[in-house]
Amino acid sequence: MFDPYKVRNDFPMIKNDIKMQGKPLVFFDNASTTFKPNSVIRAILDYYSYLTSNSHRGDYDLAYQVDNRINQARIVVSKFINANVDEVVFTSGDTMSLNLIAYGYAMKFLKKDDEIVLSEAEHASNMLPWFKVAEKLGVKIKYVELNHEGRITPENLKKVITSKTKIVALAQIGNVLGYLLDMKEVSRLAHEVGALVVCDGAQSVPHIKTDVKDLDVDFLTFSGHKMLGPTGIGVLYAKKELLDKMDTFLTGGGMNSKFNIRGEVKPLPAPAKFEAGTLNIEGIIGLRAAVDYLTKIGMDNIDKYEKELRAYAISKLKKVPNIIIYNENAESGIITFNIKGVFAQDEGTLLNSKGFALRSGQHCAKALVNYLETPATVRCSLYFYNTKEEVDALYEALITGGDFLDAYFA
Ligand code: ALA
Repeated sequence: MFDPYKVRNDFPMIKNDIKMQGKPLVFFDNASTTFKPNSVIRAILDYYSYLTSNSHRGDYDLAYQVDNRINQARIVVSKFINANVDEVVFTSGDTMSLNLIAYGYAMKFLKKDDEIVLSEAEHASNMLPWFKVAEKLGVKIKYVELNHEGRITPENLKKVITSKTKIVALAQIGNVLGYLLDMKEVSRLAHEVGALVVCDGAQSVPHIKTDVKDLDVDFLTFSGHKMLGPTGIGVLYAKKELLDKMDTFLTGGGMNSKFNIRGEVKPLPAPAKFEAGTLNIEGIIGLRAAVDYLTKIGMDNIDKYEKELRAYAISKLKKVPNIIIYNENAESGIITFNIKGVFAQDEGTLLNSKGFALRSGQHCAKALVNYLETPATVRCSLYFYNTKEEVDALYEALITGGDFLDAYFA
């Protein structure tokens, strides 16, 4: 079993005793991005200090070593999600991966009056690319109704999936309410009508074991920086036959085997055909180190610990006077709340003054505000390096709100 206190030694942002507003930093914004362990930072430094050269272009030893690192990284990432190695495309992140599906697949194969199913709990990256598809092709977007808790249920999904549905695009874990969606069931229901499933894994892949074969999703997207890796790197997984028939999105060097002045371009086989231009080499190397680190701890251990910490946090936060918790029963480390009568961003500012980094506002899920019936919320998002003591400190900060918040306490 891993020790959450011991792993803290691996993270410079914890070890360096960072202060915010003169107070020890407590980082509860892990759904936004995560700290990086030494092994990730070292892997990136090593690339720049000992290996700098481009990939897939040089006939010299250094370039060959970089090619090897990239190939190894692709193998490591594919094993992490149980995909085949040629089904892993490196992108700049979750947003780019989702756009790649929208432009490379949907724009090519969908037509007027086809339907795409989303939920109003999706963050911008899993909505706006589909809006573009709808605008361009006349495709209809339908929203699965959220139940009384804000969950997507199979019953409600069945109500919106029809023979016209071509894509069902949903987050496995939502970034505001944090519920874990039964993606296997989503795949079953979508496949019954021949629709494809886009699983937005930005908030799930960093926290739970992912097996694309078991989930039977057609696409999976995620970002490196929410799982200990660097920013600017992410992954698109797609079943090989889909990658083969999708259109390229970015074109240029590295994605073609030949082209001529008549404008004829022969793309390389996937995944290379989607990786135009110089790759984000340090990002890929850093992501590999992040996956190695997570694998060493064990995703099941991470999941188990986060659930324990969440249960503890909920039991503490429920004691805060006038708190409204919007997702008490969620399965992830995301806890979204408000203090009655206090605007979320004022609460966030107050917590900042006490050293807490939490996100407040709409969290890029701007369509969810109608459901929540509040313009903004405060979000505490945990990761495996957070501790019960940090949760205790948050509780203390919340109950000693300061004059302007105390005014609202009963
Ligand atoms: N989607 C990210 C978040 O939820 C940025 O904070």
